[in-house]
Amino acid sequence: MANLPQLAPEATRLQGKVALITGGARGIGASMARLFARHGAKVIVADIRDELGQALCNDIGLGYASYVHCDVTKESDVETAVKTAISKHQNLDIMINNAALIDEAKPSIIDNEVSEFERVLSVNLTGPFLGSKHAAKVMIPERKGSIINVGSVCSSVGGVTTHAYTSSKHGLVGLTKNVAAELGKYGIRVNCVSPYFVANEVSREFFKLDDDGCSRVYSNLEGIYLREEEVAQAVLFLASDESKYISGHNLAIDGGFTSINPSFGLFSRSK
Ligand SMILES: NC(=O)c1ccc[n+]([C@@H]2O[C@H](COP(=O)([O-])OP(=O)(O)OC[C@H]3O[C@@H](n4cnc5c(N)ncnc54)[C@H](O)[C@@H]3O)[C@@H](O)[C@H]2O)c1
Repeated sequence: MANLPQLAPEATRLQGKVALITGGARGIGASMARLFARHGAKVIVADIRDELGQALCNDIGLGYASYVHCDVTKESDVETAVKTAISKHQNLDIMINNAALIDEAKPSIIDNEVSEFERVLSVNLTGPFLGSKHAAKVMIPERKGSIINVGSVCSSVGGVTTHAYTSSKHGLVGLTKNVAAELGKYGIRVNCVSPYFVANEVSREFFKLDDDGCSRVYSNLEGIYLREEEVAQAVLFLASDESKYISGHNLAIDGGFTSINPSFGLFSRSK
């Protein structure tokens, strides 16, 4: 590998596997691409940010990572991305439906445009549907594979972000469960991960937070902040054979945020 430190062969958890990561050019997806490659996987980074995606693959090393242009809302692009994995590596073991966007925060539903709502749904929900469909096409004959959707705390609670984003991320859990129900008979696992706030470019911009603001955003776990790398670590577990009996699951990576309401009661911290 060109620039990434190598792990000892016995420490690698994805040796011999091929992974396709949508939205992999930056952010959490890029962290997954780096971590997966360190663990021995061949990675296909699929995104619409061509320069960033290509630069990332150059940095990881072209023996381990390749870039393909793919707008996840276009079925032909998704099909091409899957075909790229097959033509380069003869296989697709891991499909990560990570690409997503968020619309502008507006305080009232009355100001929300249907076109914006549908744009978010098409990337965040139709995208994973297409990714799952085309991954399934090549995984079914092999009778194995792991499909992982990237949700959010907005997959299970309301009131954190926009109507469109929250709806799309709730829908993604439904898609995860339904596709898991169908593909289980082929030995294919389908799961979701749902991270809390990660202080990166997109979330800082949406919540209008500077460094100080980010340092005050914490979940139930005080003083601990979620980083992109930790989301990638949870996805690595679901991608690897260590999770071989886990399917249809939504793994919260949120320090307890969606399980606990500490705003009043015995453990309230507001006093
Ligand atoms: N950042 C957070 O705080 C946070 C929290 C919870 C969940 N998530 C989820 O994590 C995932 C990654 O988010 P991130 O923070 O890394 O965001 P990001 O904006 O840094 O990365 C998203 C990537 O998706 C790509 N993308 C957007 N539209 C696309 C399209 N039509 N086709 C292909 N690629 C497209 C972008 O180019 C970008 O590279 C998303 O599913 C997001 O909803 C993020």
